[in-house]
Amino acid sequence: MRLSRFFLPIQKENPKEAEIVSHRLMLRAGMMRQEAAGIYAWLPLGFRVLKKIEQIVREEQDRAGALELLMPTLQLADLWRESGRYDAYGPEMLRISDRHKRELLYGPTNEEMITEIFRAYVKSYKSLPLNLYHIQWKFRDEQRPRFGVMRGREFLMKDAYSFDIDEAAARRSYNRMFVAYLRTFARMGLKAIPMRAETGPIGGDLSHEFIVLAETGESGVYCDSDVLNLPIPGDDVDYDGDLTGIIKQWTSVYAATEDVHDAARFEREVPADKKVHTRGIEVGQIFYFGTKYSDAMKALVAGPDGADVPIHGGSYGVGVSRLVGAIIEACHDDAGIKWPEAVAPFKAVILNLKQGSDDTDAAAKSCMENCRPRASMCSMTTPTSAPARNSRPPT
Ligand SMILES: Nc1ncnc2c1ncn2[C@@H]1O[C@H](COP(=O)(O)OP(=O)(O)O)[C@@H](O)[C@H]1O
Ligand SMILES: [Mg+2]
Repeated sequence: MRLSRFFLPIQKENPKEAEIVSHRLMLRAGMMRQEAAGIYAWLPLGFRVLKKIEQIVREEQDRAGALELLMPTLQLADLWRESGRYDAYGPEMLRISDRHKRELLYGPTNEEMITEIFRAYVKSYKSLPLNLYHIQWKFRDEQRPRFGVMRGREFLMKDAYSFDIDEAAARRSYNRMFVAYLRTFARMGLKAIPMRAETGPIGGDLSHEFIVLAETGESGVYCDSDVLNLPIPGDDVDYDGDLTGIIKQWTSVYAATEDVHDAARFEREVPADKKVHTRGIEVGQIFYFGTKYSDAMKALVAGPDGADVPIHGGSYGVGVSRLVGAIIEACHDDAGIKWPEAVAPFKAVILNLKQGSDDTDAAAKSCMENCRPRASMCSMTTPTSAPARNSRPPT
């Protein structure tokens, strides 16, 4: 890619509307453009970073055994009436009607739809555990969209949903996502700390937010500084094995968001020189919510004794578009963005320092051609070897 052929509408001046550094740098670097409050077009440079982040998220979900699918952005209101959330969700939900006056909504999350898909097909505990995810645009009509892609109205989220026969199995699914998240954010060059958190409108009784410490973050957090140096599980981690050792290590050190902060425990357990009280950016959140949706929406499977039981569920979100901003908040200096290599829009820059000289022009050109990613060629020729033994002649 030649810079002269790239679409890179950089801005020299600091945009007035940008309150935080990531928003400022993203606009100045020509990564995205606001089209309406909290709604952005991703320009080529920003889009490359977004796609790299998305791919890391995908690889770690796949490694942990989750299966990718793709659900639509538009959902039927009736589905949300089944769970009781159509009325409960309030003005953050963008409600639409089609030409037949059918009520639709632009999905803010997908618990209802995935439960509907699950109950249509899965009837036995033998098909469990199951974890399905997608990476899809969401819409939440936030009261105060701000900080660029960090709190948008339309934003890209990875959301996974686990289905298990009982609480013990559901906790194992939760643990798999917990470990997958540790790996995901570390691969992007981020220190994202799992912190005990409130469950909010998703419901349920167990939740962790993954938080990148930053003064510009929206969440107040408390932790023991030891949590900043715990080891990240390697790529050989066995997701079918026992993960409780890793979970214990990460959850026994104090780390909580201000909503669930236990001041007495913080005082008691954390030595004065290790007390951290700061702000952070929530880049992901995981929930175990038990039978909240399966009860309401009748997602039942036959257990080993043949009796139908509601499945135990969890949901697991990653803010893919928010991560672009979060990474910049964590990785910049006065001169601009310092990309962690794994998410850098380009891996190398070739500078021709003697333009017009035949030798350097040719050398720069050949360097560029050698750096180009090569598409793997598929063979268009028909196989010349004998047909497989069990193949039958055409009839
Ligand atoms: N308005 C938003 N803009 C960008 N990213 C968001 C927004 N809301 C949520 N996210 C991202 O999606 C992830 C999962 O969302 P969730 O926890 O359901 O939302 P919330 O924390 O707002 O209740 C969050 O951890 C965050 O990274
Ligand atoms: Mg959250």
